[in-house]
Amino acid sequence: MHYFSFKKNNLYCENIKVQDLAAKFGTPVYIYSSRTILEHFIKLRDAFKKLKPLICYSVKANSNLSILKLLTSAGAGLDIVSGGELYRAKRVRCPGEKIVYASVGKTDKEIKDAINYGIFAFNVESIPELERIAVIAESLKKKVKVALRLNPDVEGDTHAYITTGKKETKFGMDIQTVKKIFLNRGDYPYLKIEGLHMHIGSQITKAAPFVKAIKKAKELLSELKKRNIKLKYINIGGGLGIVYDKERPQTAKEFASKIIPLLSGLKLKLVLEPGRFIVGNAGILAAKVIYIKRTPKKKFVVVDAAMNDLARPSLYEAYHRIVPVTKLKVKKDRKLADVVGPICESGDFLGKSRKLDVNKGQIIAVMGTGAYGFSMSSNYNSRPRAAEVLVKNKKAYLIRKRENYKDLIKKELLI
Ligand code: LLP
Repeated sequence: MHYFSFKKNNLYCENIKVQDLAAKFGTPVYIYSSRTILEHFIKLRDAFKKLKPLICYSVKANSNLSILKLLTSAGAGLDIVSGGELYRAKRVRCPGEKIVYASVGKTDKEIKDAINYGIFAFNVESIPELERIAVIAESLKKKVKVALRLNPDVEGDTHAYITTGKKETKFGMDIQTVKKIFLNRGDYPYLKIEGLHMHIGSQITKAAPFVKAIKKAKELLSELKKRNIKLKYINIGGGLGIVYDKERPQTAKEFASKIIPLLSGLKLKLVLEPGRFIVGNAGILAAKVIYIKRTPKKKFVVVDAAMNDLARPSLYEAYHRIVPVTKLKVKKDRKLADVVGPICESGDFLGKSRKLDVNKGQIIAVMGTGAYGFSMSSNYNSRPRAAEVLVKNKKAYLIRKRENYKDLIKKELLI
């Protein structure tokens, strides 16, 4: 579900023509629909209403301040993974008690800053990290809440780079280690080790891997209960998949109907960390066709966006639908096209073998790029980063200015 749709021959974002936004703000430009973002958030919240979950939107998916503000104003908390994301959370005044912090490599400064801001909990990924947090908490004389990240060793059924719940990955701790820490939690007087965290991967389209992981967690919880160790919350992470192509992912409701029965008896507060589910289909990347290049072998649609703007196709061979934003009468061509950017790498493509009949100068939209689009962009090939625009209440707002050449060298020192 999203509010990008064709009316007659034009693609609209909510009530505004994408063609007009591209003309006004230039290309390449990310365009987001606030209505889509909010509706996704509400769908998930309503689906889990029975358990009154704390929904911490995963900042890494799209960390633009205006998007964070949109969601926190609607009641969302934030899932962060770095000092930089904490800084963003502070800038939008997200209450500390709605922030959870995961990452296998939190530095002393990051830990200190997060404790001082009074975050809800650290999701701890190793014993050395736990011990570091304990030392810093003691030095600050503050009691700090901690959830242990369990690596349940389940298959996420997704791309290898984004599966995180298998024991070969760097994430979380094995069940025995987690159990041992809980049993000895009295050894850490400055830590309240009261939560269990899991995040098994991203773009998971079925409930089964989550169910498997939660069942493993439940076995652990009941063993702990027998030893009189009670917890206060369980965080089942993010990872809900969306439609990019032919996927038929579970809806929030279907997902909740499988998960709620597993959790209802536990009397634990539930935390969720969705990223892609909320913003993925709420954004597009609009780009302009610079050339149509034909070689004896192939047809290339060369556009002004590239792998530095959207890394997902190059990095994961991810599929994103590509459409012209205005359906013009163009000569039909039976040849399939690779949609490529100007970057000097063969891996620089946005789509391969597409049926796309467009002319030079036409605007195309790369769909479903609201999550892990801009947030993974770079300046590779000294390309200024794209602008970002948010459509909200029938108006379009620039929420990040396009970078210029000066921005590219701002931090460099000429010696
Ligand atoms: N919680 C934790 C601890 C995470 O590591 C992640 C994502 C999330 C929540 C949110 O997951 P989501 O609901 O968005 O699936 N760059 C990749 C995705 C990387 C996901 C990293 N962790 C991509 O473009 O597909």
